[in-house]
Amino acid sequence: MKILVATEKPFAKIAIDGIRQIVEEAHGELALLEAYTDVSQLYEAVADADGLIVRSDKVTAEVIDHASHLKVVVRAGAGYDNLDLAACSAKGIVAMNTPGQNSNAVAELALGMMLFMVRNNFQQGTGTELKGKTLGIQAYGHVGCVVAHLAKGFGMEVLAFDPFVPADKMISEGITPITDLKELYRRSNYLSLHIPANEKTKKSVNYDLLSLMPEGACLVNTARKEIIDEDDLMRVMEERPDFKYVSDIAPDSLDVLKEKFGERVFATAKKMGAETAEANVNAGLAAAHQVVDFLNDGVDRFRVN
Ligand code: 3PG
Repeated sequence: MKILVATEKPFAKIAIDGIRQIVEEAHGELALLEAYTDVSQLYEAVADADGLIVRSDKVTAEVIDHASHLKVVVRAGAGYDNLDLAACSAKGIVAMNTPGQNSNAVAELALGMMLFMVRNNFQQGTGTELKGKTLGIQAYGHVGCVVAHLAKGFGMEVLAFDPFVPADKMISEGITPITDLKELYRRSNYLSLHIPANEKTKKSVNYDLLSLMPEGACLVNTARKEIIDEDDLMRVMEERPDFKYVSDIAPDSLDVLKEKFGERVFATAKKMGAETAEANVNAGLAAAHQVVDFLNDGVDRFRVN
């Protein structure tokens, strides 16, 4: 069996070493396509692969069309909005993710970004502290839980909205459950987004919600750019000189936002939430185990299609 790791944004070497060991111990062959610059390279590389491991790389219907041997694709990470699930299913290809494996890295970055914003982009000037402020968490999944835990360490009050998580679980973890999304925005000095990008959530972070946030609000996005209504974000920032936006995924309108609002907006050059050696090892090795276990034994845990 041939397993292709195709990563436009490569894993750390230590993760590749671990993936190779898992594949070779299962008598498989590992192929690597790293830092590719054109999708045609992926078309070529995937042609004889039985298993495919990717990060945010787009696995489109065209990629699937070029993958005549492919049986399983694993997104080494949480969000699988980069996989065309319908195209996978149509060809009988199983799609999986590796939930939780890179959560700590993303959560640490969310807190780091928050600090960067409340300390004037690490430049001179009086900032504010996180202690005593209220942090709202939208979606209390793997990342949201860690963000909440870290924020409590800073002495923040933490609220969370997640219709899929029982209130009892949040309460037992010292988090205040909020059942009305508007209330979450109304009460949160800082708000950290952890919802996936899908048809329901795209552009759902809009004017109606953002305009409710208290004076000095900061919105932190380590999730996906598509969940933000950028026209509405622009409007809120225009109306509110106190409002800040920090994102690990550059908005389409970043240049205009930067020009108009300067240091009230910050976005990383390339999504880096999961860019730690630890997260690469956790997600990469989990993906390798999942591919091998599926190809050898038909185990399909964390299947998403
Ligand atoms: C995820 O969904 O797991 C994160 O967005 C990480 O994405 P990456 O593997 O492209 O860094």
